[in-house]
Amino acid sequence: MNDLVHLAIIMDGNGRWATRQNKERSYGHKEGTKNVREITKYASKMGIKYLSLYAFSTENWNRPKAEVAILMKLLSKFLKTEMVMLSENNIKFDVIGDMSKFSTSLQNEIANAKEMTKHCTGMTQVIAINYGGQDEIIRAINKATQKHEKITKEILEEFLDTAGMPPVDVLIRTGGDYRLSNFLLWQSAYAELFFTKTLWPEFSSGELEAIVSEYMSTERRFGGVVGN
Ligand code: FPP
Repeated sequence: MNDLVHLAIIMDGNGRWATRQNKERSYGHKEGTKNVREITKYASKMGIKYLSLYAFSTENWNRPKAEVAILMKLLSKFLKTEMVMLSENNIKFDVIGDMSKFSTSLQNEIANAKEMTKHCTGMTQVIAINYGGQDEIIRAINKATQKHEKITKEILEEFLDTAGMPPVDVLIRTGGDYRLSNFLLWQSAYAELFFTKTLWPEFSSGELEAIVSEYMSTERRFGGVVGN
């Protein structure tokens, strides 16, 4: 049996899910946000310690202005409304990504949200916003080289947004594509990858359970050999 400490999810397919029902893409993002709540609660009940969710990438700024605005609005609403549920479920809230690109008011909302759940000791929900794996690594190198002449794996990890978090064990991508899209590149070096055609708003706790049980029977070798 494998431990599942850190689960990461690329939540893809909101737009297609909405379009299939003749609805605006924004409806898909709203329903996708609702599913963040359901899957978070379920992951926490499963005993997972870190749940990292890709909500907005460094490349998502290239979407139409109106869609970016809707995603920012949903994020702001999420920060105001979800913290009570997280706190009740002993879930700590955290973010990764470059926060400096956000407005001061959004940065304050993020800080408040973190403050509201800082006492929680169960799972940590990590929302990736204005996040890109390559951007994170470059920011970390620039910070690390100010303090160290020679960088090791351990030193670099101290400067990543995920400092103090364990590596990703399982990475799931919904929506049918087979790529990492710049998510947790460093941290997923030995992650087990699962791809499903299910669109994010329809990704259920039952499907998560099935993926986790498949992962449990996988043999992880971390570059070693069988049985060693
Ligand atoms: C991909 O769908 C989804 C995103 C851009 C990120 C996920 C965002 C959410 C679940 C909502 C916001 C989350 C929070 C925590 C506030 P897509 O638009 O790429 O779908 P498509 O591939 O079908 O077009």
